[in-house]
Amino acid sequence: MAFSSDFIYQLQLGNPIDDVMKSYVNLIRRGRNYVCSCPFHSEKTPSCTVYPDTQSFYCFGCGSGGDVITFIRKIENLEYFEAIKLLAERAGLDIPTDKQGEKTARIKARVLEINRETAVFFYKALTSDPSKIGLSYFASRGILPQTIKKYGLGYADNSWDKLKNHLLSLKFKEDELVTAGVCLSRNGNTFDLFRNRVMFPIMDLRGNIIGFGGRILDDGMPKYINTADTPAFKKSRNLFSLNFAKNSSSNRLILAEGYMDVIAINQAGFENVVATLGTALTSEQARLISQYAKEVIISYDSDNAGQKATSKAINLLSEAGVAARIISFEGAKDPDEYIKKFGATRFKLLLDNSDGAINFKLEKCKDGLDLSTEIGKIECLKRIVDVLAQIYNELERNVYISKVSKEYEVSSEILKSQIDSKIAKKSKRDKRNDWKNIVSKPRYKDEINPEVNQHPRENKAEEGIIAYLFQNPDMIKKVTNFITPEHFVTSFNKKVFSVLCEKLNSSTNFTLSLLSDEFSDSEMGRITGIEAKHRDIILTEQVVDDYIKVLHDHKNNTLSDNINSNEDLLELVERLKNIK
Ligand code: CTP
Ligand code: MN
Repeated sequence: MAFSSDFIYQLQLGNPIDDVMKSYVNLIRRGRNYVCSCPFHSEKTPSCTVYPDTQSFYCFGCGSGGDVITFIRKIENLEYFEAIKLLAERAGLDIPTDKQGEKTARIKARVLEINRETAVFFYKALTSDPSKIGLSYFASRGILPQTIKKYGLGYADNSWDKLKNHLLSLKFKEDELVTAGVCLSRNGNTFDLFRNRVMFPIMDLRGNIIGFGGRILDDGMPKYINTADTPAFKKSRNLFSLNFAKNSSSNRLILAEGYMDVIAINQAGFENVVATLGTALTSEQARLISQYAKEVIISYDSDNAGQKATSKAINLLSEAGVAARIISFEGAKDPDEYIKKFGATRFKLLLDNSDGAINFKLEKCKDGLDLSTEIGKIECLKRIVDVLAQIYNELERNVYISKVSKEYEVSSEILKSQIDSKIAKKSKRDKRNDWKNIVSKPRYKDEINPEVNQHPRENKAEEGIIAYLFQNPDMIKKVTNFITPEHFVTSFNKKVFSVLCEKLNSSTNFTLSLLSDEFSDSEMGRITGIEAKHRDIILTEQVVDDYIKVLHDHKNNTLSDNINSNEDLLELVERLKNIK
């Protein structure tokens, strides 16, 4: 075990789960517990419960759950050790040093060193290359020398091994280059990943270079290559140029689609611009944004794909509590091209005239319709009712109702009653859907404990025994007199029971967190789920005796033990015949 049970206990005392969770989600008190909308799946009614008494959370919708360490691991996308570190810092605790943790930290530090050397290498290649291929590419795109310097832009030429050899000469090892993601390894050959590209280093908030994007110089494919996730880089968790944007005095961020847009917008004088890293906006990034800005101006491409992505981003941002405004422009495909064609002042006008998210959605309702016909107008109003029914705040809703009523010349009373009935239906449907997700989840495929389907009865008994121990940890001695891990039928429950026995026997302060280094996030979810589902059931010794009996029966019942298939069944029938 990596950390002493005493340290884990201290860590947990210093980080009450409700206190930690409330900086990520909106907790609503319900009796002794709290509920919130689950941050790990998309839902409309809150089905995630936080239990202060056991310092755990569990989502009945998606099965996520666990202790405070599991929560941080999942929401911050961290390794076990990193999550411990974050929580220790939060609680002002010193971390006892530990071999595994040291190793993880050492690998990450190596990756960062490799990245820094790589960025320097690409930068030098760009600025000192006699053929000036990279420089003239950037010049052709209107990028100024000071911008190249600011972003540390670079150039990777056509070679398969120049970077590799350079890094090897600096005493890095081949496998480290692959871990850092600057080289690939195929059939025992290691070679440079980025070739014939201009390079965009990606920095974290502390200025570490955590990855790269590389754009091809011609029309070749793929247009961009991005560093895959590495020990130092998770693309769903970072934003390009946030290291600069975070210093801007503006309380809003501009969100663009790609590297070139960000750089062009930044160069035009707007420091507060960021972009995602080769993927659509994620909920983690939306939360990250919410730490820096209350409002975002989405400046995506003007094409269809860009507009679709805009709608998605609006929703994700709104879930994270960030208001969105949207710029719209014509005559250019993206902000980079717009600034080049019309200049920074005109772009500033676009920002100033950006529209609220609702108006953006209301405009989209007109798409493909002929509003001069009754049919077109009715269809459009139906779509509008849908949009307005999504506004939670009544006052805000009424403002838009009166606006639409004027624009389309329909009575606002009728609009209002249509919207109200939509809202009522929607909330009913949301509840039903969330519920459907809950009940349909475990049925088809159980990846954590695949034997459940085969042994539902034994699984029930095993889960009951585990839950009993959670409720009555002092009964461990008594229970293990009658039953040992060997009696457990399904392998996941067997492991849980055996780890539970070990921890209960060896630690004075048992907490769920003691299991957290032995199980993955989703396994922790299952374990918390077993506990949560048994909360309102009083497990008496009598009930547990019955469960124990089920497992004993299973073990003793040698005849039926191995029936897994039709063949087994046939064989059994033959054997029974012979006995007769
Ligand atoms: N992207 C990617 N892989 C691709 C294409 C795009 O990762 N094959 C990502 C990049 O982060 C890129 C962003 O999506 O910056 C936007 O793509 P696109 O609009 O095609 O490129 P631009 O940024 O406009 O680049 P350019 O102006 O150089 O064409
Ligand atoms: Mn572009």
